Amino acid sequence: MNTLDCLIYISRTTLAPVENRRQLDDIVEVSAYRNAEAGITGILTLQNGYFIQLLEGAPSALDLLMLHLHFDKRHKDIHIVARETIARKDITGWSMIGPAPSVPPHPLIDAMLARPPSSVRPWREALIEMAGVPA
Ligand SMILES: Cc1cc2nc3c(=O)[nH]c(=O)nc-3n(C[C@H](O)[C@H](O)[C@H](O)COP(=O)(O)O)c2cc1C
Repeated sequence: MNTLDCLIYISRTTLAPVENRRQLDDIVEVSAYRNAEAGITGILTLQNGYFIQLLEGAPSALDLLMLHLHFDKRHKDIHIVARETIARKDITGWSMIGPAPSVPPHPLIDAMLARPPSSVRPWREALIEMAGVPA
């Protein structure tokens, strides 16, 4: 049977604010292409110096992506905060939210960064709300 996992990780950016935009554009462009190929959907955001990414896909596809992510020097201290089997995907594509003046830091995310919940649900709800994608 084909199973699906949802994984949330947080990591600390190593990017200087001045190089952010170009590097983030690069991440978005590469990810859009590679995630579509790998059947991965998700949301990425950058808040208070932390990347927060939700990923959905086949467990093996997520494992492979996490391996790539560990070698990526644009972030460090990768910490998988939650990983669960899910019945279906909640997110249809792949997107990055902000950072932009139009996307203010989300107070819920701030609170969760201080005390990271170990289940997928609160992260998913906050990120979906930020992204404005219907669950
Ligand atoms: C915060 C962050 C999130 C990323 N998210 C993804 C992603 O969702 N999918 C992806 O293919 N690459 C993502 N990347 C880029 C990968 O780390 C890696 O550069 C890319 O998969 C290309 O791998 P390669 O350079 O080994 O060929 C992300 C990088 C960073 C720093």
